[in-house]
Amino acid sequence: MIFVKNSAQLDKMRAAGRLLYEIMQRLREVIKPGETTAAIDAYAEEQIRRHRAVPSFLGYQGYPKSICTSIDDEVVHGIPSDQVILKEGSILSLDCGLILDGWQADSAFTVPIGRIGPEKQKLIEVTEACFFAGARAAVADSRLGDIGYAVQQLAESQGYGVVRDLTGHGIGRNMHEDPSVPNYGVAGHGVRLKAGMTLAIEPMITLGAWQVRQMEDGWTMKTLDGSPCAHYEHTVAVAAGKPEILTLPGYNFDAPAGVR
Ligand code: MF3
Ligand code: CO
Repeated sequence: MIFVKNSAQLDKMRAAGRLLYEIMQRLREVIKPGETTAAIDAYAEEQIRRHRAVPSFLGYQGYPKSICTSIDDEVVHGIPSDQVILKEGSILSLDCGLILDGWQADSAFTVPIGRIGPEKQKLIEVTEACFFAGARAAVADSRLGDIGYAVQQLAESQGYGVVRDLTGHGIGRNMHEDPSVPNYGVAGHGVRLKAGMTLAIEPMITLGAWQVRQMEDGWTMKTLDGSPCAHYEHTVAVAAGKPEILTLPGYNFDAPAGVR
């Protein structure tokens, strides 16, 4: 069952989304070569709690940390560790969620560690563009398949793989609500979108094939072929005409490229 949020509920989700946006910006600044992923996790948890919010990942189905840190061929759900030191030339996907006043926000980005090669740089940029293409379709009276179609078209036009085993999701009082939001699909098919639906749209795009596998830790997902992967996620509210990106407050779909 898909929960449509009323304006008071959307206000609560806006507040959660804005807080997560602000924390994600601070996290970007502490990511650098030589840092451990455990240190970034500790900083994230401290920031979340300092603002009277709760880390939604911590304890979720037994997950042990407040963020996921996935490096290079790790797709998602990498577990922060004091044994994992960020190395120049890698890419890091950082995924974080929080609960503020009972309402959830969920967001992820991929960033370079120091200097990286052009292939990884382009993968990051295209993955972000895939998100915006998908999010642009999250408007009232569109269909769910329009989102996945837009993501898939852009990714595959660049020869990239679209991860299928993991999807975006509805989000609200719970981190994972209906509907599941695949990053592939058929335009004009699927559930009809309504203003007030709130979706975590999160393309996971690989430089190679789409197949993934789970590691022995029970969490970390990696590409089967070892190719690098990027992930970009925001919590989005469906609206008439233009969606609202709750974890990117002020984002304007109609601004000229480069202006946000
Ligand atoms: N952000 C992830 C998602 O979109 C959730 C991480 S799984 C957790 O589904 F266990 F770490 F919470
Ligand atoms: Co998510």
